[in-house]
Amino acid sequence: MTHSGKVAIVTGAGSGIGQATVLRLAREGARVVGCDVNPQGLAATRAKLEEAQLSATLLVADVARQEDVERVVAEAGRVDILANVAGIMDFFLPLDELDDATWQRVLSVNLDGVMRMTRAVLPRMREAGGGAIVTVASKASFSGGVSGAAYAASKHGVIGLVRHVAYFYGPLGIRSNAVLPGPVETGIGATAMPKSPWALERAKLAMATMPKSARPEEIAAIISWIASDEASFLNGALVTADGGWSAA
Ligand SMILES: NC(=O)c1ccc[n+]([C@@H]2O[C@H](COP(=O)([O-])OP(=O)(O)OC[C@H]3O[C@@H](n4cnc5c(N)ncnc54)[C@H](O)[C@@H]3O)[C@@H](O)[C@H]2O)c1
Repeated sequence: MTHSGKVAIVTGAGSGIGQATVLRLAREGARVVGCDVNPQGLAATRAKLEEAQLSATLLVADVARQEDVERVVAEAGRVDILANVAGIMDFFLPLDELDDATWQRVLSVNLDGVMRMTRAVLPRMREAGGGAIVTVASKASFSGGVSGAAYAASKHGVIGLVRHVAYFYGPLGIRSNAVLPGPVETGIGATAMPKSPWALERAKLAMATMPKSARPEEIAAIISWIASDEASFLNGALVTADGGWSAA
């Protein structure tokens, strides 16, 4: 019961890493508020929670919309843990083939969403004297060859936010860290289908040393530990969780 008595918000709760994180934190005693844009995904998460005789509050919300973010945080009340997990890919679109709509949507979910959620919980964490924020970044946070331009820019960008929060709010007891997964077996493939043949050929070279995919539960376990009091001195850390891919 690592998180007994804690309140946790998890974004992207309807699939993959977010769903696994909801289940993990709920199993470990947290009162979890999960949100996702996809109601079917949340229904699947609810079914898994019931199967495991666990409970969580699940809300349909878009992290890119300020009013949705405020609604989720209001539902949580106190917030001890924020797991910024929601994210989408960009069809591996290289810059000269990138349309404005894809750029804006990817940035608004992957970067603005993290900014909005984190900004919204900070006053509550300050008031409570602390909190833990875990943001799911990516191997693409330090690589230009494993996604399209928009995803790479968004995932490089969240590292700046994670470190900003770690530095400025660390003295107030608020920890901000990132997890950087490599491939994970999740639903993100829906926005990962490459649209550009030449860019795909180029990306394949950067992926030549890619290890086998992780299960979402393996990333959720790392998120849970980073958010736990055991990791009390971990702040501003970028925790690579890619099976050794970036060690190549
Ligand atoms: N799967 C991978 O290989 C991989 C690798 C590195 C990083 N990541 C990152 O992991 C995180 C989780 O992705 P996943 O792999 O579990 O994918 P996923 O598609 O299985 O889950 C992402 C969830 O986020 C939700 N979502 C999308 N936009 C949203 C929004 N605006 N507001 C709220 N929810 C929204 C989706 O509906 C979905 O349920 C993402 O940030 C992704 O970039 C994934």
